[in-house]
Amino acid sequence: MTNVVELIPEVNLIEDKEIRDNLISAVNAIEKESGVDLTQFPLGHGITEAGSLMSHSRALVKMALAVADVIEEINNIKVNRDYLIAGCILHDIAIVYGRENEIKHSFTGAFLARDHNLPEEVVKIVATHAKEGELVKRSLEATIVYHVDFMHLEILTGEHYTQVIVRP
Ligand SMILES: [Fe+2]
Repeated sequence: MTNVVELIPEVNLIEDKEIRDNLISAVNAIEKESGVDLTQFPLGHGITEAGSLMSHSRALVKMALAVADVIEEINNIKVNRDYLIAGCILHDIAIVYGRENEIKHSFTGAFLARDHNLPEEVVKIVATHAKEGELVKRSLEATIVYHVDFMHLEILTGEHYTQVIVRP
């Protein structure tokens, strides 16, 4: 079984031990149930060289925390960093079950988070991180995850700009 902290060192940035432990058990459970190797699982979207599913989630943690730093410093808006980090790590994890239905991974991921007793705020981040989340009012943390997720994908796919530079 993959060592989750080695795979995603940002897990250690979660201050609440219960959230951290439940997150690790959720990642281990989905890896065991799906039979995939999370160290190798691709992000999809035709992105091969630039990273795996888990490197996408790690990038989101760092991007989301940078956003939190800015809005806390400049706008004095408090962000729950534990929810933010856990939401980034789990948002796409159910893609390991298949990409045939884009709605499905948001909800199967949310069920996974709930099954592992993660806070309801984390469940909602996962449930609303994609386009179907437009149908409800997202939390502050879910709004950050939604935007950094699409920003990272657009950067990696190069869909909306003219030159893609992928460094090794
Ligand atoms: Fe994503």
